Amino acid sequence: LANGLGMTPPMGWNSWNHFNCKIDEKIIRETADALISTGLSKLGYIYVNIDDCWAEIARNDKGELVPKNLTFPSGIKALADYVHGKGLKLGIYSSAGYFTCAKAMPGSLGHEEKDAKTFASWGIDYLKYDNCNNDGTKPTVRFPVMTRALMKAGRPIFYSLCEWGDMHPALWGFKVGNSWRTTNDIADTWDSMMSRADMNEIYAELARPGGWNDPDMLEVGNGGMTKNEYIVHFSIWAISKAPLLIGCDVRNMTKDTMEIVANREVIDVNQDPLGIQARKVRSEGDQEIWAGPLSGYRVALLLVNRGPQRYSITANWDDLAIPAKSVVEARDLWEHKTLRTKFVGNVTATVDSHSCKMYVLKPIG
Ligand code: GLA
Repeated sequence: LANGLGMTPPMGWNSWNHFNCKIDEKIIRETADALISTGLSKLGYIYVNIDDCWAEIARNDKGELVPKNLTFPSGIKALADYVHGKGLKLGIYSSAGYFTCAKAMPGSLGHEEKDAKTFASWGIDYLKYDNCNNDGTKPTVRFPVMTRALMKAGRPIFYSLCEWGDMHPALWGFKVGNSWRTTNDIADTWDSMMSRADMNEIYAELARPGGWNDPDMLEVGNGGMTKNEYIVHFSIWAISKAPLLIGCDVRNMTKDTMEIVANREVIDVNQDPLGIQARKVRSEGDQEIWAGPLSGYRVALLLVNRGPQRYSITANWDDLAIPAKSVVEARDLWEHKTLRTKFVGNVTATVDSHSCKMYVLKPIG
């Protein structure tokens, strides 16, 4: 969407994957505090996004959405002020339907202009717009109504389409929003995560600065996968130019979780100005090679082992669109070291079960 936002994939946090409906203003404030104190905000995690369940079930007599008195007594404007005071941005959630997905609050269908105006007046910076409980009309009709309403409201608001991929939003999303979900909801398991990665990969060519494919939010730190599996999760999301929205409780992260989401070199791949989503360039059974171009004639490479045993995986220059005779220097982004060996023709690495190796390759001759 040509609103000047999302020139690189958005980074931040969202309440849903960890808290579901059990959210309140204290959690939001403490999360903003934690993004600062952990140093995550400095790495680019600036959006603090409230998901479903923040509003009363009824609108007020002016027809406006009302923050839930029990859990958000200070109101959303006060939260936005708080978050902005820390240099962060505030996101909110609604649905292109009569109710949101949890059915705990009204949706914005038929109230788009009013709600967009309300969001803008509160100082909202990001809207996740869901597809539940709608009137049966096409998302290609309902989602653009909110696009226009946001434009009219006059505040730059990152617009995230949450249509779950049913009507192939990658094919029409670029004119409507800044990101679009290509999949239904992620769960905190290896199979769920990898299948979302696969579904999202199909549309790689359609992502670009201003509009990104969204395989759903991160589960890193929620406990359902091993450390290596979470490293694969974060690496695929990064190389796929997916939104990096942390979905765990950032007030209580383990050292391992922090080490993963705070890997600056992997984040740099995600935020590379070229904004080209990596593709699965070759796969053989459980062994996969994901790769894509980066600025400065570099290439991001991810070797993924989906199988139960250790494999040696080889990526050829041919797979990576690197000129045949190039000599290449490789930086290992999880070991944080530049390999001594210079590579000609291919890179080979041993990759453990449900693990990956991630490199930035730089031709040096
Ligand atoms: C849908 C979305 C989720 C979350 C919930 C909230 O399932 O896909 O990401 O926002 O609704 O109810």
